[in-house]
Amino acid sequence: MTPTIAILISGRGSNMEALAAAAAEGRLQARVACVVSNRADAAGLDIAQRFDIATHVVPHKGLTRDEHGQILRDTLAPYDVNLVCLAGFMRLLSAGFTETFRHRVVNIHPSLLPAFPGLNAQGQAIEYGVKVSGCTVHLVDEHLDHGPIVAQHAVPVFENDTEETLSARILAEEHRLYPTAVQRLLHDKWNIIGRRIVFDA
Ligand code: GRF
Repeated sequence: MTPTIAILISGRGSNMEALAAAAAEGRLQARVACVVSNRADAAGLDIAQRFDIATHVVPHKGLTRDEHGQILRDTLAPYDVNLVCLAGFMRLLSAGFTETFRHRVVNIHPSLLPAFPGLNAQGQAIEYGVKVSGCTVHLVDEHLDHGPIVAQHAVPVFENDTEETLSARILAEEHRLYPTAVQRLLHDKWNIIGRRIVFDA
């Protein structure tokens, strides 16, 4: 049976689009069951609708993290998804949510973790003066940008880079890396040893 994924977004949705396109083209053997945004004005919602994917808005305003997490869980429950993919989802998930979907929530972050977690990772990389940065796909645990690493891809940082030029170079790789990493998580055999993800050869 084709596995199903849900994608959580907060804004532009270009990584969501990369996953949806890969699924539509068969490069990612998965069905995108729904896209959920915590913001009603997320541009990604229109993109999801163009792909005929069910969309939901679950605003977080006025809710505790636990309350928001519970509504997110209730929203996803009918879809019975194999994997939840965060794609620019700008909220920390509740412990209840990550427990429900233990080892089944994945995120993409625009740096080579553990370097530069949190907001504005590309700006942090420029500021720090690193010569190489990149992107990381990792499982989500209760800490920010912290869970076991699924895949990484490096990109060079040039002396004349701005936050914008570096972000664009990293984003192009994000769009390649995320569908590939999700495909592996869904279809390959893997174990977690300590905090290492080990794929069977
Ligand atoms: C990406 O850079 C992703 O790595 C980070 O947030 C950004 C989301 O962009 N977590 P988009 O909404 O996927 O276009």
